[in-house]
Amino acid sequence: MKLVIKENYDEASRYCAEHIINLVKENPNAVLGLATGTSPVGTYKYMIQDHEKNGTSYKNVSTYNLDEYCGLEDDHPQSYHYFMKAHLFDAIDIDQANTHVPDGTKDPDEECQDYTALLSKHHRNLQLLGIGSNGHIGFNEPGTSFDSHVHKVALKESTIKDNAILFFNGDEEAVPHYAITMGIADILDSDEILLIASGKRKAKAIYALVNGPVTEDMPASILQTRDNVTIVCDREAASLLK
Ligand code: F6R
Repeated sequence: MKLVIKENYDEASRYCAEHIINLVKENPNAVLGLATGTSPVGTYKYMIQDHEKNGTSYKNVSTYNLDEYCGLEDDHPQSYHYFMKAHLFDAIDIDQANTHVPDGTKDPDEECQDYTALLSKHHRNLQLLGIGSNGHIGFNEPGTSFDSHVHKVALKESTIKDNAILFFNGDEEAVPHYAITMGIADILDSDEILLIASGKRKAKAIYALVNGPVTEDMPASILQTRDNVTIVCDREAASLLK
């Protein structure tokens, strides 16, 4: 595992974007695993800027997102489908048919099987991740097996609170209580993993990821065991590291 500490969120975002852009330039057919949430927004912003300025093309790139809330239609403003269109897909030349996000409106068991089958056929070249303040990756909450594949999860209270503040105007009632997520084994099935974290809110989780024991109680700690992982933090997120 490699650790990159940048001065602030903007610089961390620029670093991640440049990494992804270089990958796409080298391999125009790249398969990317993508994340939603506040963490990757800056990365996507710089990818869009580069696409507009330098013409990096995503025509033959395909993408597989980590997760989606259960019960939200694609065009619901809080759905992760909507998020990806608004923050990346609609602003680059990607073929929308090559973008994949779990379908939160289908029968969850059926969708878990279908998305698992899809992922098993499309190995990712890079997986972009954020991290929850409780150490979750994707929606793999503490206690999830490191061997897990796509599954339906009940979100923990802390995750519902975080997401209510960030995306639902503080309205906890509005946050769906279930989601479909890639499992940890699916996340690890990528040539490389890039995790971006910023702000004090993430400092404890980054400390546990980097310096703590490898345990299913701290899902992101599994990343410690891999050489192909880069953790990109700003100073605040890295502030508790030894
Ligand atoms: C999002 C995802 C989550 C987020 C995590 C951090 O697709 O899988 O694991 O990366 O909850 O969220 P933010 O970036 O909003 O702090």
